[in-house]
Amino acid sequence: MRALTWHGTHDVRVDTVDDPEIVNPRDAIIKVTSTAICGSDLHLYDGVIPSLKPGDILGHEFMGEVVETGSGSTLKKGQRVVIPFTISCGGCFHCKVQQYSACENSNPAEKQDLSAALYGQPMSALFGYSHLTGGYSGGQAEYVRVPFSDVGPVVIPDHLEDDKVLFLSDILPTGWMAAENADIQPDDTVAVWGCGPVGLFAIQSAILMGASKVIAIDHYPHRLELAKKLGAEVINFRETHVQDALMEMSGGIGVDAVIDAVGMEAHGFAFDNMLEVVKQKVGIGADRAHALRMALMAVRFGGKVSVPGVYGGMTDKFPTGAMMEKGVQLRTGQTHVQKYTAKLLEMIEQDKIDTTFLISHRLPLEEAPRGYKNFKEEQDSWTKVILKPGMAATG
Ligand SMILES: NC(=O)c1ccc[n+]([C@@H]2O[C@H](COP(=O)([O-])OP(=O)(O)OC[C@H]3O[C@@H](n4cnc5c(N)ncnc54)[C@H](O)[C@@H]3O)[C@@H](O)[C@H]2O)c1
Ligand SMILES: [Zn+2]
Ligand SMILES: [Zn+2]
Repeated sequence: MRALTWHGTHDVRVDTVDDPEIVNPRDAIIKVTSTAICGSDLHLYDGVIPSLKPGDILGHEFMGEVVETGSGSTLKKGQRVVIPFTISCGGCFHCKVQQYSACENSNPAEKQDLSAALYGQPMSALFGYSHLTGGYSGGQAEYVRVPFSDVGPVVIPDHLEDDKVLFLSDILPTGWMAAENADIQPDDTVAVWGCGPVGLFAIQSAILMGASKVIAIDHYPHRLELAKKLGAEVINFRETHVQDALMEMSGGIGVDAVIDAVGMEAHGFAFDNMLEVVKQKVGIGADRAHALRMALMAVRFGGKVSVPGVYGGMTDKFPTGAMMEKGVQLRTGQTHVQKYTAKLLEMIEQDKIDTTFLISHRLPLEEAPRGYKNFKEEQDSWTKVILKPGMAATG
């Protein structure tokens, strides 16, 4: 089959690789109909997540048709399914308390050492996201093996087209959980750093949860425009002093809740960020935490900090004083996708959530390398790229 494979920093290729096979009874094989490139994939593309190997198949946002099932799968051939990016067994302590992204059984023992050393305990497995998280092949491919297929997959009714439901695999639940983690109350002012797909869905979710004012921060005009259309007020950090503006917009006390939807590759020429760009390049200090620092400065005393943005290692000059003295509540994490899919699917069916407004490009899988390059270099207009394995080349 054809699949998007990683070969080094900024080097991804579509190669012919072996077809996946059923390995465990609970596996299923999915023929992929749609798969997306995520901001998280850019961290792999940029080489800032360790333990990828040349030839690894990327992709953790995908859906398709069930073509093969193991004896323990509850899926049926021909069903259309969206697959959560978190691989979860359903039976361990964490899965039972719906902390699916902390599953203890999905990351094989031989892959656990690095994450255990970094985080105290090993990570669970994710599709297509390095050997830290299990080394599972991802879904930017014609076919993919889905372990624990009796737990994660969401069966999709025929009348809902792929574009409407694909993002149940990650960014829609991620935006929702980001807003939930910000514990939004009806009168809250919420500031969101990053108007990529995750930030945009966090904005949409915060508004649905009743936030009275949402302020979106980015530097790309088109992305800010999308945030505005959702109902946010916007700040372009290249033009406006963000901290001053937020103080003014929050009546001088700081915002009630902040959401960092940027993560470990912040942009901008702020001194701390420039220093961290250099440190990241030479491999000392992996995370550029500029957006998180700004969020901690802007949140009010007693406010709420939610961090969907991915961080992987360590960072310096973390404002522990602002965090403690202000008594903030801080919540973060890889999304517990399976916890949210049923509710969000229902909201999509009821047209309460629009998932299609941010799709900017649909490309054949064969053109995935161009998709990565432009999603990275033309971020303003390339807001979300969907890859279609079955689509003819655009020439
Ligand atoms: N927690 C999870 O489970 C989960 C799931 C999916 C994605 N993520 C993470 O969420 C983050 C965002 O993902 P995405 O797909 O939206 O990515 P993206 O790269 O498309 O968007 C990031 C946005 O942040 C903006 N930005 C950069 N620096 C900024 C700054 N200093 N201030 C304000 N905005 C700034 C960029 O201009 C861009 O628009 C990534 O770190 C991704 O890995 C986390
Ligand atoms: Zn993703
Ligand atoms: Zn589990």
